[in-house]
Amino acid sequence: MQTVRKPLVAGNWKLNGDLTLVNQMRETLSSADVSFVDVLVCPPLTLLHGFESNELRLGGQNLSEFDSGAHTGEIAGKMLIEAGCSHVIVGHSERRADNYESNIIVASKVEAALRNGLTPVLCVGEPEEIREKNEFLPYIAEQLDAVVDKIGVQAFSDLVLAYEPVWAIGTGKTASPAQAQEVHKFIRAHLAKSAQDVAEKILILYGGSVKPGNAAELFSQPDVDGGLIGGASLSPQDFLSICQAAKQ
Ligand code: 13P
Repeated sequence: MQTVRKPLVAGNWKLNGDLTLVNQMRETLSSADVSFVDVLVCPPLTLLHGFESNELRLGGQNLSEFDSGAHTGEIAGKMLIEAGCSHVIVGHSERRADNYESNIIVASKVEAALRNGLTPVLCVGEPEEIREKNEFLPYIAEQLDAVVDKIGVQAFSDLVLAYEPVWAIGTGKTASPAQAQEVHKFIRAHLAKSAQDVAEKILILYGGSVKPGNAAELFSQPDVDGGLIGGASLSPQDFLSICQAAKQ
């Protein structure tokens, strides 16, 4: 992690949590100094109201590419803003797989987030078979390029990226710090080909089985600017330890 980029640690609660956990998380995080890191919590939407605005950054886990209309069950960017969110996760591999979100749809959702003043946390990452075939760098480039084609590379200055290898999510099989660094460096270099300034400033988080025991080494890699945490973000103590591991 480079000192020019303030680290960000984000918790993606997925389909987990309740108001008891909200209160425990608030209590634990407010008991410690985490001013050296930006902390973002992305709980299920119905729990957002349990957090006080401005004590933490809040994010949604998904949004509609539309701003309104006949789209039952969807949530619009401006609704997330009204609920206190500053960020929204877009293109998580679970949504790409479970909800058939293509690169094109993901790009539209990134555009919708930006249009509504939200910072998208755009997730990219390869499944296991692509890693085994050693085709992961072109695969990730294609995921990025679909968004570049839609919004232009300069708009990436308002984005956060997250590299989440699908084989490392919820499996306990973390990417090694060297594997993470290889991809993060590649992503930055890929963007730098068309926008050096954007590439230098953009935050690239690592996600996939980050735990208190491996976070510091991952975050110490020069192109890893923090983490997107799933399972361990449901334990207030573990999440706090991971946030503390972002201290440079
Ligand atoms: P785990 O930390 O549980 O592997 O999940 C990572 C993730 O998908 C965060 O978005």
